[in-house]
Amino acid sequence: MMIFSRLVLLLWLLVACPFTLSAAEPKIDFNRDVRPILSNNCFACHGPDEKERKGKLRLDTFAGATASAIKVGKPAESELIARLTSGDENELMPPPKSGKKKLSQQDVATLKAWVAQGQLCYSLELCPSAEA
Ligand code: HEC
Repeated sequence: MMIFSRLVLLLWLLVACPFTLSAAEPKIDFNRDVRPILSNNCFACHGPDEKERKGKLRLDTFAGATASAIKVGKPAESELIARLTSGDENELMPPPKSGKKKLSQQDVATLKAWVAQGQLCYSLELCPSAEA
């Protein structure tokens, strides 16, 4: 019984720790936090493949993402953020017609925090400390 409750405590710590850490340390890391969201939900249409690219928007590079979709430091003025929560089916990203699910609230919050953070750490050169 004793061992069991220790196991439960250990599990609880494992599960709870990332949350406590992220609350204390809100810094968003592009590779760890952002790239997986964009890659799972957006790169199929806004990634490196030119032939598949939609709306002339490329989100896998800093230049592409900040050309119009992202206003660095200003999530409320960023088209990219507006598109994630739009009530208009024609605006919503990823497009509901594509069969891809709307982003979770947590993913939207992560992207908002990333844009708000001001420094979009797309690469080692742009943001060396975040990669350490
Ligand atoms: C199945 C393909 C597809 C996927 C997946 C997709 N998009 Fe799009 N996206 C489009 C198309 C098509 C357009 C152009 C039409 C439009 O503006 O609605 C577009 C346009 C946009 C625009 C407006 C571009 C501009 O310059 O104004 C933004 C911002 C955008 N997408 C963000 C995203 C984000 C963020 C994701 C992932 C969460 C995503 N999209 C996933 C197809 C896709």
